[in-house]
Amino acid sequence: MAAKKLLILPGDGIGAEAMVQVRRIIDWLSKKRGIEFDISEGLIGGCAYDACGTPLPEQTLIDAMAADAVLLGAVGGPKWDDLPFDKKPERGLLGIRKEMGLFANLRPAVVFDALVDASTLKAEIVSGLDIMIVRELTGGLYFGEPRGIETLPDGSRRGVNTLVYTTEEIRRIGRVAFDLARKRNRRVCSVDKANVLECTVLWREEMIKLQQSDYPDVELTHMYVDNAAMQLVRNPKQFDVMVTENTFGDILSDCASMLTGSLGMLPSASLGAPDATGKVRALYEPIHGSAPDIAGKDIANPLATILSFAMCLRYSFDMVSEADQIEAAVRGVLKGGLRTADIMQPGKAKVSTTVMGEAIVREMDKVQA
Ligand code: IPM
Ligand code: MG
Repeated sequence: MAAKKLLILPGDGIGAEAMVQVRRIIDWLSKKRGIEFDISEGLIGGCAYDACGTPLPEQTLIDAMAADAVLLGAVGGPKWDDLPFDKKPERGLLGIRKEMGLFANLRPAVVFDALVDASTLKAEIVSGLDIMIVRELTGGLYFGEPRGIETLPDGSRRGVNTLVYTTEEIRRIGRVAFDLARKRNRRVCSVDKANVLECTVLWREEMIKLQQSDYPDVELTHMYVDNAAMQLVRNPKQFDVMVTENTFGDILSDCASMLTGSLGMLPSASLGAPDATGKVRALYEPIHGSAPDIAGKDIANPLATILSFAMCLRYSFDMVSEADQIEAAVRGVLKGGLRTADIMQPGKAKVSTTVMGEAIVREMDKVQA
């Protein structure tokens, strides 16, 4: 079997130090399992702007298109705050998602038993939680036209963004959610704002049609996004799969991350449609940002990036037992009491990014997936 081509884009801030820990796991897989990846590294975000004058260099895009999967760290930081909008680090991330056609963003929020008390919510509300947020990623308010800031004749200014979806865009993200639900508890909650926004009236109508025609075995419910935000912290275990618009998903997934104890725990997968050869373009990244305030201090939590790599093995490389093993190692290390600062709890051992990474690799020797 040809080595899987993996493009690593560490990006800015804590992205690089988290990626060092993933490299340890990759080395482990090579040494202990004889699994070799064809790895290349590239630039994206602020570091790409510094080196090439653009947050998404042509070469990065070429390499991303040729890769079997992309693993991304994080982008952004105050250093680039004053750049024009189209040069900002975030444009690199949004650009690669769009160019690769990654319309489906899977954001699982799973509470590890050892971290139940790390959440700011009561243990009984979050223990055993396992939900999947499916965020539409290449449309909606993030990409709709017209957009921009214009100066009016009277000298005042006007800012515009547009919430827009076509039936096909809604149906393809709906299928992703329903297919995932079939592998889980067969329940989809579609989140919209159909009491106010016409675009999401269409969203709701299309979800209903799709469920009736193709997924009668999956239960479909609907919730307004404001209520969904409230329900996520009130009783998150009522959900199985949630599917929603790009901006709504951005907000709800940050909210869901805190159910698990920390933004530093949540991985994500962004997937495209299968091409003519059946290949699915994919990018894996933690949902946290570049955390510039703690970057370079060796205190960041590398687990979201490590778990993103596990998702990559599971969804893109069909290496299910290796993915299970990484996830088991994360559980084991947390159970053993090691914590990075963001998930620190009384009586546990506070460790650095590096020590956490080393511990995961050691644990992989012990756990049987
Ligand atoms: C995320 C992030 C990005 C987004 C930013 C960094 C552009 O918040 O992946 O959730 O808004 O999609
Ligand atoms: Mg976000």
